[in-house]
Amino acid sequence: MADVLVLGGTGTTGRRVVAGLRERGVPARAATRKPAEAGQVRFDWTDRATHADALRGATAVYLVAPIGEAAPAALVEPFLADAFDAGVRRVVLLSSSAVTEDSPGLGDLQRLVRAAPEWTVLKPSWFMQNFTGEHLVAQGVRDGEIVTATGDARVAFVDAGDIAAVAVRALTDPEPHNTEHVLTGPAALSYAEAARIVAAHTGRPVRHRAVGTAEFTARLTASGLPEEFAAVLAALDEDIRRGAEDRVTPAVEQVTGRPARSFRTFAEEEIR
Ligand SMILES: NC(=O)c1ccc[n+]([C@@H]2O[C@H](COP(=O)([O-])OP(=O)(O)OC[C@H]3O[C@@H](n4cnc5c(N)ncnc54)[C@H](OP(=O)(O)O)[C@@H]3O)[C@@H](O)[C@H]2O)c1
Repeated sequence: MADVLVLGGTGTTGRRVVAGLRERGVPARAATRKPAEAGQVRFDWTDRATHADALRGATAVYLVAPIGEAAPAALVEPFLADAFDAGVRRVVLLSSSAVTEDSPGLGDLQRLVRAAPEWTVLKPSWFMQNFTGEHLVAQGVRDGEIVTATGDARVAFVDAGDIAAVAVRALTDPEPHNTEHVLTGPAALSYAEAARIVAAHTGRPVRHRAVGTAEFTARLTASGLPEEFAAVLAALDEDIRRGAEDRVTPAVEQVTGRPARSFRTFAEEEIR
């Protein structure tokens, strides 16, 4: 049976992957910089000394890349070398639908992971969970106005629980998937449509305001984001505006055997 190291084990998808593995009786250790409970192991991308203990006995890894690193391959490549030496055969990478192998940063990781004996690359669209927690969109929900540079283009928002369910199958199915899964929810929605669903559920007004890319970038830098990162986020909105995320894939249902969760169900169950 697989023994899985789940990186980002306290994060949006990682904690759901840990829960899903344990439900199936699969041993899973949740990697975190600050372990606080049983089943967690200390792991810091920037401290290689933590990698060997985290990897000991693992046969599979759920890989969430170092967040905010412009060149994550510099950290991930030696980690994967250590992982294969330690006996890991299977790697499931959390990438993004916006990333191809030619994209700087996360694109390099897709190439590295395909070299594993058994691999899967998950390419989710934008997370429904961006409407909750600390994300800028969630702040917009609280302020009553979500601001993006996406115009009225649509995004097939996907539930983090569905991403995790696919990851659990990719980590534990007897046959490795050895493929990419582009993961979406069951329908593509504009931010205005999503805002209307949220407002109907909470009873509090929320609207979407579409701004130009330059204004959006300026808002991000004014909120404290470094200019380079603000430009990357604004470029992603521009891709959405051109229609890059306006498509629905059957992958969640094909892999898990059940339909992807709708945005309405997500809003009703997770937005307070
Ligand atoms: N949000 C979206 O719409 C979306 C869409 C597609 C793809 N993605 C991808 O999803 C990934 C996750 O993004 P997220 O914002 O949702 O993050 P997240 O999973 O909520 O949280 C980050 C995780 O990384 C861990 N972490 C942070 N710094 C670390 C370090 N130095 N060493 C080890 N672990 C560290 C944190 O653990 P501790 O704090 O416990 O150490 C936490 O578990 C990103 O690669 C992003 O590109 C996101």
